[in-house]
Amino acid sequence: MPLRTNKRIVTIERHILDEQAAFPDATGTLTAILYDMAVAAKLISSHTTRAGLADIIGATGEVNVQGEEVQLLDEYAHRIIFQLNDHTGRLCVMGSEEEKEIIPIPSKYTCGKYVLLFDPLDGSSNIDFNVSVGTIFSIFRRKTEFDGPGTLEDVLQKGSDIVAAGYIVYGSSTMMVYSTGNGVHGFTLDPSIGEFLLSHPNIRLPEARFYSANQGYQSRWSDGVQRYTRWLRGEEGNTQSLSLRYIGSMIADIHRNLLGGGVFYYPADTKSPNGKLRMLFEAQPMSFIIEQAGGYASTGRQPIRDIQPTQLHQRTPLYVGNRELVEKAEEFIAKYDG
Ligand code: AHG
Ligand code: MN
Ligand code: MN
Repeated sequence: MPLRTNKRIVTIERHILDEQAAFPDATGTLTAILYDMAVAAKLISSHTTRAGLADIIGATGEVNVQGEEVQLLDEYAHRIIFQLNDHTGRLCVMGSEEEKEIIPIPSKYTCGKYVLLFDPLDGSSNIDFNVSVGTIFSIFRRKTEFDGPGTLEDVLQKGSDIVAAGYIVYGSSTMMVYSTGNGVHGFTLDPSIGEFLLSHPNIRLPEARFYSANQGYQSRWSDGVQRYTRWLRGEEGNTQSLSLRYIGSMIADIHRNLLGGGVFYYPADTKSPNGKLRMLFEAQPMSFIIEQAGGYASTGRQPIRDIQPTQLHQRTPLYVGNRELVEKAEEFIAKYDG
């Protein structure tokens, strides 16, 4: 049968290898970590699509380090990523949103030169409702020089030190989006062949259409954030208004805004003075991706990428999306919140 398309079909493996060619000194180690994340994505994806089945759905009954209920799928996703990466000799240490301390490489395996951080399942409170969830990861070069185990110092790095980051969104289809600092590329899983195929090459943020925030918390927000929100709605001197979209899975909210244009924010509020989102596992990697697509990410006062983290699970307010919208947030916060 003749092929009906003359489009080039690019698998994620091919693409990651082609990207490596841009770095003549590359040894293939980073490439291999990225490819293993694609494998993790396929395994987790096949589980999330069966989440409604009785033996998988529901809470484990435990509470994680963030004080949140751990869902079975959180645990599964965490384990899969760990098991794919503990023995490869590529990493010196890992960190996960679901693990209180840094995760050492088991002593029977050799340590490598990279660090892997991940949020195994983002938006997990949405699992029971069949709403999109995702996985977020970032990769750094180790900071400590010797060959032994990595340390907390290797994990606590700035967003500007990220070597590669990506996310997988388990939605109506499964997509993996990644960047090695050379643009942002999106792949859709074809479940019939089990391959991620390049569907969104070189993603750039289009003109903004959406704003995304949990307005149920508005009364806890500062004056600046409340005014900014009104500005987004076409008040406070703005002649245009944006559409509101809020899923409550950061990954799905930011993914939509990456493709459709807009701003996502989770501000500090009177209940959570540092916001809710985690600097290392959520804010840094998603900010890296959005900035690679031409956008900007801020705490509301300074770029996320400039912050030196001091704690593994530290939280941060986050404003991320089209540059002019994020800068507008900074403007309102500086003007009204002192
Ligand atoms: P996680 O499931 O990894 O704990 O993250 C949930 C986060 C994020 O995905 C989302 O944007 C936010 O929590 C939603 O919080 P609210 O319910 O407070 O709006
Ligand atoms: Mn999360
Ligand atoms: Mn999570």
